[in-house]
Amino acid sequence: MKTTTQTLLKLKEEGKKIAMLTAYDYPTALLVDEAGADVILVGDSLGNVVLGYDNTTYVTMDDMVHHTKAVTRAVKNALVVADMPFLSYHQGIYESVKNAGRLVQEGGANAVKLEGGREIIDDIKAIIKAGIPVMGHIGLLPQSVNKIGGYFVQGKDEEAQNRMIEDAKALQDAGCFAIVIECVKKELGEKITRELKIPTIGIGAGVHCDGQVLVLHDMLGLYHKKTAKFVKQYAEVANIMQEAIKNYVSDVKSEKFPTDEHSF
Ligand code: KIV
Repeated sequence: MKTTTQTLLKLKEEGKKIAMLTAYDYPTALLVDEAGADVILVGDSLGNVVLGYDNTTYVTMDDMVHHTKAVTRAVKNALVVADMPFLSYHQGIYESVKNAGRLVQEGGANAVKLEGGREIIDDIKAIIKAGIPVMGHIGLLPQSVNKIGGYFVQGKDEEAQNRMIEDAKALQDAGCFAIVIECVKKELGEKITRELKIPTIGIGAGVHCDGQVLVLHDMLGLYHKKTAKFVKQYAEVANIMQEAIKNYVSDVKSEKFPTDEHSF
């Protein structure tokens, strides 16, 4: 059955956890959907793990639409949320609604995600008013990496924690259906989760969030790169792929492939 924003709210009310993962293309979206994830995020993390940039500020609206289309062609059940990339919601409300609309109308997304708190509340309200569900994102905001100077735990002092709690409440009041909380101490993740009626989805925010999200390529070990402390690596898929590719190269060179079995 297709997951909706209402399904997620019900899961929180029933105390059941929400599983969210990223996907950026047709084959991985098929796998994630078939495995039963509630939400698939077409994250702008595709800039890092698919396009090879060293941060997400290079990702464009056209990149996001292209990858969202591939994902939504595959997905039957999960709610598909597409990230609004850097600068796509900072140039006036008209641009924000237009860009959110592209992800839904051209990409086929069910909802969009924006990074930030009260400073983007007017954009969020306008997008929701246009009929597009919005997921919030607070804590570590990767699109602001140049401003904050790196990727580290957020909300370290009481003032910053209170600001984050107020941001979370403002996002809920504006009509967000869920909020991602990235890279905060688990006590803060728990506190925000308790304060809100809408679900929280943690990434490095502790077990008490209503759900969890990870970047697919990180949890699968799809490439040989150091990952953040909050990543649990469930497989080492890069090794399996590399072994297969090496075997192919060797078979071609030694004429073991193709055999009669693969010939006409
Ligand atoms: O882009 C992304 O993958 C994200 C997750 C880290 C939540 O925003």
